[in-house]
Amino acid sequence: MTKIRIAVQKSGRLNEDSLAILKDCGISIDNGKDQLKATSRNFPLEVFYLRNGDIPQYLRDGVVDIAIIGENVLIEKGKDISIAERLGFSKCRVSLAVPKGVNYSSIKDFEGKKIATSYPNTVKEYLASKGVAADLHIINGSVEIAPNIGLAYGICDIVSSGSTLFKNNLKEVEVMLKSEAVLAVSPSISEERKELLKKIQFRIKSVLQARQ
Ligand code: PRP
Ligand code: MG
Repeated sequence: MTKIRIAVQKSGRLNEDSLAILKDCGISIDNGKDQLKATSRNFPLEVFYLRNGDIPQYLRDGVVDIAIIGENVLIEKGKDISIAERLGFSKCRVSLAVPKGVNYSSIKDFEGKKIATSYPNTVKEYLASKGVAADLHIINGSVEIAPNIGLAYGICDIVSSGSTLFKNNLKEVEVMLKSEAVLAVSPSISEERKELLKKIQFRIKSVLQARQ
């Protein structure tokens, strides 16, 4: 029997909520957090646990058919990938921040400065739209430490509760975009799997409605 293949975040903030929505849809998955792949007992579906940043490429390659992913990751790396459903959880902002002590007045303050980020494309596009040129220092995690160790003037990263900024003595100065978890679809999904996607979407819609 054909199964639809879904990617979910392997570990991190999206993982739990992603599995919870599948569960609320009546899709049971045996796992195994150590397993990178799991199969549903009661729905023709396979789950692949992947790193966030790798998911757009897996969708593009058709290695997975659908994914639960932060919209911010699609904006950064998967503008060609379509969204079937907005899922209403894992809401966050992608923002620019600087040390609390900085006397910040406008985006122009970033001109010629170094910005540490894991979202280079998003920052580049935002700065270009404002006519500001800055140097990007690309790092994959713990971005908020960069200004404290003299690596950058400011940072661009995800802000959710704001506690990471707070703990690192930073303040949010520009909100570049708002994001939430979405159900993304591979451009090359087969007709047969599209039918399975429709069933999942139907269930998701009623789960989201019940959650309101
Ligand atoms: C994410 C993100 C921010 C933080 C935002 O990092 O990169 O640092 O969460 O959340 P908050 O506003 O609620 O503090 P994460 O903890 O996932 O680790 P990483 O940056 O090392 O990937
Ligand atoms: Mg972080």
